[in-house]
Amino acid sequence: MASRKPFVAGNWKLNGSLELLNEMANEINAVSGEDVDVALFVPALLVGECAKLGVKTGVQTVSEFEAGAYTGEIQASLAKDLGAEYALVGHSERRHIFGESDEVVADKFVMAQQQGLVPVLCVGETEQQREQNETESVISAQIDAVVRKLGVAGLKQSVIAYEPVWAIGTGKTASPEQAQQVHQFIRAKIASLDSEIAQRLLILYGGSVNEKNSSELFAQQDIDGGLIGGASLKTDAFISICESAKG
Ligand code: 13P
Repeated sequence: MASRKPFVAGNWKLNGSLELLNEMANEINAVSGEDVDVALFVPALLVGECAKLGVKTGVQTVSEFEAGAYTGEIQASLAKDLGAEYALVGHSERRHIFGESDEVVADKFVMAQQQGLVPVLCVGETEQQREQNETESVISAQIDAVVRKLGVAGLKQSVIAYEPVWAIGTGKTASPEQAQQVHQFIRAKIASLDSEIAQRLLILYGGSVNEKNSSELFAQQDIDGGLIGGASLKTDAFISICESAKG
């Protein structure tokens, strides 16, 4: 089996500050290294500062357009120029609050990759979809939208984050078994198209991960790390989550 290096990323959403970034940077740089990659998805206005501090940096979304009259949008090429390495695409808050469809998310994925950013494609079902046994079909559609545009090769330089909508910000984490089941499904689905890409692909879990539940989640065979919301705003909690991802 191809070995996959654990990856833990904090998603600050519309939170955090320059002060918090300065406070956390050294500790993040100390834990990120040979055994785990650690990144921060900071608000767009902090991207340049975050990268300058030597922290692996991502933007939380990018425009699907390269350039033009789109006031307020985030340009993937500029994020890259400022030192970003990653872009979240299709976070559930973008899908559900800002109405981004699978199609638009796939366009953003393409733009991020074209501009040299590694897209982190967020997928996940709502509580109602889970209850109606639609988890796999929802996630399949979210992934297929990207594969239709780029083929399975598009997933080579990318990361997938499974974030069940019902677990985000609710304190209701998926159990390690529940999460592993979906991660395994995602990897098997991609393996049916290209087994090498599937073996190398990092699949992160997100949704109410904290310093108490992270070890057990990260110990699952197909969980390669985490995408951390609330707990990434607390230095001690976040660092301890990062430590727990080290093999
Ligand atoms: P919480 O960790 O706050 O549940 O958020 C998860 C998330 O949305 C990360 O992208």
